[in-house]
Amino acid sequence: MKKGSKLVYLNILVPLTLFVAINFSATSIIRQENHLPVVKIINPKNNSTFDWDTQVNYEISVADKEDGDTKYDELNAKEVLLEVRYAGNKAKVQAILNKGVQNDPPGLAVLRTSNCFNCHNFNSKAIGPSFNEIAVKYTTTASNVDLLVKHIREGSTGIWGKETMPTHPELSAEEVKRTVQWIFKYAKDTDVSYYVGTTGTFRTKLSAAAGKKGVYMLTASYMDHGLKMVKHLKGQDVVVLR
Ligand code: HEC
Repeated sequence: MKKGSKLVYLNILVPLTLFVAINFSATSIIRQENHLPVVKIINPKNNSTFDWDTQVNYEISVADKEDGDTKYDELNAKEVLLEVRYAGNKAKVQAILNKGVQNDPPGLAVLRTSNCFNCHNFNSKAIGPSFNEIAVKYTTTASNVDLLVKHIREGSTGIWGKETMPTHPELSAEEVKRTVQWIFKYAKDTDVSYYVGTTGTFRTKLSAAAGKKGVYMLTASYMDHGLKMVKHLKGQDVVVLR
């Protein structure tokens, strides 16, 4: 009996202990290996000047050790987001800069990690209507928010045209609600707009509307996919136009 239990120890427990130990150390190695994505706004250049009511072309690159490089089309360019923010003065921009890289608010995090940007842009029609058009069409009431949550989770067609929005059963009603609220808030804010992709254009304000003294702050960001069980990392770059 005694001899038997010793054998059990050697045959099962020792290999099991080794297995657990090896896997544990493998996990800790992986943990150290998710690198921060390097995001760079190539154009326009930081501190350059801009004209009112003019098209500005932008170009962004992302290099991530695990996910790949936009240079070689290894990344989904739709996951690269540019926030274009107009601020009345430089102090406002400095206050945001001082905060450093911030986590995405929950509503934006859903947009980024789900497939929404494959079909929606903020300011121009794609397969689906732009978020801006949606925010203009519906007034922000609790019943409209609930209606849009229902359409996103259960799918929709015929309201905007013949295209179909697929169902999103993997998202909770609460998550989708925060997303819709985020869309209502930011798609209506005329001082902030968002663009997806590594290249594109945006238009600066009319000088009459801007009071001729503001600055533009461009923030490009990318949330990496990292590795299983490892926290995703957000890389970002900021340029200020004056
Ligand atoms: C495969 C393309 C596709 C994807 C992916 C997609 N949508 Fe849509 N979306 C559409 C289309 C097409 C419509 C218009 C549907 C219609 O006319 O009824 C739409 C409509 C909407 C509307 C307006 C609905 C209404 O009742 O007017 C919202 C809000 C919306 N989408 C948000 C989202 C969000 C958030 C996601 C990601 C979780 C998402 N969409 C993913 C294609 C898509």
